[in-house]
Amino acid sequence: SNATQGLAGGVAGRTALSTVGKEGCGLTYRGYSIEDLAAQATYEEVAWLRLRGELPTSQQLADYRGRLQSLRELPAGLKAVLAQLPETAHPMDVLRTGCSALGCLEPEAGTTGPFDVVDRLLATFPSMLAYWHWFQTQTMRIETHSEEDSIAGHFLHLLHGRRPSAIHRQALDASLILYAEHEFNASTFTARVVTSTLSDIYSAITGAIGTLRGPLHGGANEAAFDLINRFATPDDAERGVMDLLARKEKIMGFGHRVYRDCDPRSPIIQQWAKRLAEEVGDTRLYPVSERIEAVLRREKKLFPNLDFYSASAFHFLGIPTLFFTPLFVFSRTAGWAAHVLEQRSENRLIRPTADYIGPEPRPFVPIEQREP
Ligand code: COA
Repeated sequence: SNATQGLAGGVAGRTALSTVGKEGCGLTYRGYSIEDLAAQATYEEVAWLRLRGELPTSQQLADYRGRLQSLRELPAGLKAVLAQLPETAHPMDVLRTGCSALGCLEPEAGTTGPFDVVDRLLATFPSMLAYWHWFQTQTMRIETHSEEDSIAGHFLHLLHGRRPSAIHRQALDASLILYAEHEFNASTFTARVVTSTLSDIYSAITGAIGTLRGPLHGGANEAAFDLINRFATPDDAERGVMDLLARKEKIMGFGHRVYRDCDPRSPIIQQWAKRLAEEVGDTRLYPVSERIEAVLRREKKLFPNLDFYSASAFHFLGIPTLFFTPLFVFSRTAGWAAHVLEQRSENRLIRPTADYIGPEPRPFVPIEQREP
């Protein structure tokens, strides 16, 4: 049999949306390098590019920003659902539930099409998280519009109750660009499997959020921060990480299924983490992170993936650790949706087969003859 555990190395379909690990190509979204996009574009431009195939003109972008801004209000039914979810819920479970609930309140069949649903989800995910957060921690029912015209600025504003600085908004925006798309990763593949049964887009994205939650995928940024934050100094980190390696534990935020030498997104977010560390006067987390990186390179030839330096960057932006993976959702929604559209455009049911490793056929044993 040709089956590999975890479908490693298996080609499961085709895509025009991004190149991941293709020789000489780097990571591109519809042909544009992530280095160019992270340095020169904004998240909303990238979302448009992902969904429509081309970069927007300045008029299209202004209209698109305005449209997303106008969709931020949560329906009363969704606010009622969010208010029922306990303070102890994981924010990823809140978003998964919020997405599913919106699918009941505003089903895809009642809209003018999938673009409406994606725009609505892009606009409301930050509102959902902030609404639930403020309600559960302060019993406050916040308004979920803001004058911010970007998703990054809007979320920071709702979270901190004030306008973010330009550099904080830009840092989060760059991170959202880097998180927007990554070919047939586990959550995107989930979205495509759901879509391949001709199910609706809310179901695809709800499933994708559940998949992203685990620490081998999106949950790694949260786990990476918990690790970094354990250490007081780089020497401490060196000892701690050597211990973990000796116990054969996995270090979250390192390694990748497709990349072998480097994750091209990591140096970009590392630059931001460094800049933000200087800005907030950090002398612990960034040096600790650099040391962990050095130890893993030296000992295991492992390199940081996007999640590792994202963790400290998010922390410097004042974002609670449990909100790290939800930020990934805000961003990846555009990627998932683009894959849903692509899957629909040339759909065939995704249904692989398995090698059978169970018992040989055997006679049925009537219940009275079974050994206790
Ligand atoms: N820490 C320690 N060792 C690691 C490691 C890590 N983060 N990532 C890989 N390895 C080691 C494995 O233990 C294995 O060693 P072995 O051959 O001695 O058993 C080897 O490298 C190959 O790893 P494997 O788990 O088979 O790779 P994979 O392709 O199945 O897994 C990941 C890829 C991403 C799941 C894996 O690297 C990982 O768990 N990373 C941490 C979680 C993470 O950051 N996820 C976000 C990805 S963007």
